[in-house]
Amino acid sequence: MSANVKPKLLVTRKVFDEVIDLLSQHFEIESNQADAEWTHAELLSRAAGKDALFVVGGERIDAELLDACPTVRIVTTGSVGYNHIDVDACSARRIPVTNTPDVLTEATADMAWALLMAAARRVTESERWLRAGHWKRWEWAQFLGQDLHGATLGIAGMGRIGSAVARRARGFEMRVLYHNRSRAANEAELGATRVDKDQLFAEADHVVLVMPYTPQTHHFVGARELGLMKPTATIVNIARGGIIDDAALAQALAAHRIAAAGLDVYEGEPALNPALLALDNVALTPHIGSATRSSRLGMAMLAARNLVAWAEHRPLETPVNADALA
Ligand code: DGY
Repeated sequence: MSANVKPKLLVTRKVFDEVIDLLSQHFEIESNQADAEWTHAELLSRAAGKDALFVVGGERIDAELLDACPTVRIVTTGSVGYNHIDVDACSARRIPVTNTPDVLTEATADMAWALLMAAARRVTESERWLRAGHWKRWEWAQFLGQDLHGATLGIAGMGRIGSAVARRARGFEMRVLYHNRSRAANEAELGATRVDKDQLFAEADHVVLVMPYTPQTHHFVGARELGLMKPTATIVNIARGGIIDDAALAQALAAHRIAAAGLDVYEGEPALNPALLALDNVALTPHIGSATRSSRLGMAMLAARNLVAWAEHRPLETPVNADALA
C-alpha cells in the first residue's frame, strides 16, 4: 500500500465521535454510526475488502470470516474479553488481535459490588415491590437480606478485575477467598486466601465470578456447585454468559437453594433464560459492567490507539497474540 493510501477500516458499532475523528486521520472508514443490527453474514460481507476490523464483544470473528476476507490484517475488539474471536485462527494467518484491558477494571469492579449489594440486600426486588404500590407500612422482617460487612467473599478468577473486587472488600472488613489457576502474586496485599473450587463455593457467603470464558470455564457453575453453596449465599456474574449454567441457577434460585444472584451477563445474550425473568431473587442488568463514560471512552480510545499504532507500524499497546506472532 502506498504511503498516501489509507488502509480500509470497518467499525462495526456506533462509537464516540472523538474516536472516529482520531481513526479517520489514519483510515478510510466504513462505520456503522447508525448502529444498525448486522447479522453475521452482513458483518462478513462488510468486512470483505477491509484491512482492519474494529469489533465489539459478541461479534464472531472466526476462520470462515477470515477466509472470506483475506485482506483483513488486524482485528481490534473494544472489550477486554475476546472469546468471540478465534485467536488461533488469527495467529495462523499472522493477524494481530488487540483488546482493551485495564481501562475498564475499576468500573467493572464497581459493578460487581453494585450487583452484589443489590442481590444481597434485595435492592431491585424491593424497589419493584414498592413501585407496584405494595408498601403500606414498615415491618421488622421486611425484605431481610444478607450481611456483606464481615462476611466471606469468594472470588473466582483473580486477575485485574478480581483484584479490584478484593480491594473493595477491605472496606467491608470481609474475609476474602479466591480460586484461580495460579497463585495471585498480590494475595498478601489483598489479604486473600487461595482455595480450591469446592471450598470457595462451600465457605463463601457471596461469590463473584470474574474469570475469562473459555471451553474450560463453560458451566463452571452448575447444579453441583450451586448445591455446595450455603442457602443464604449470593452469586454474581460480571464475567461472561456461559460461565454459569443459567437454567441450573434459575432452578436453584426458584427453590431457594441459594438466596439471590446478580447477573450482568447471560448465556445466549441478549436473550435471557425466561425462568430468570420470572424470579424475584435475582438482580438483572444488560451487560453494563464497564458502562461509565470514562471507562467506555477509555476502551474505545485504547482500541483506536492500537489501530493507529498498527497503521504507523509501531508496537501495539495491548496485543492479545503477540507471543504467537513473535
Ligand atoms: C468486556 O470488555 O469484555 C466487556 O464485557 C464488554 O464487552
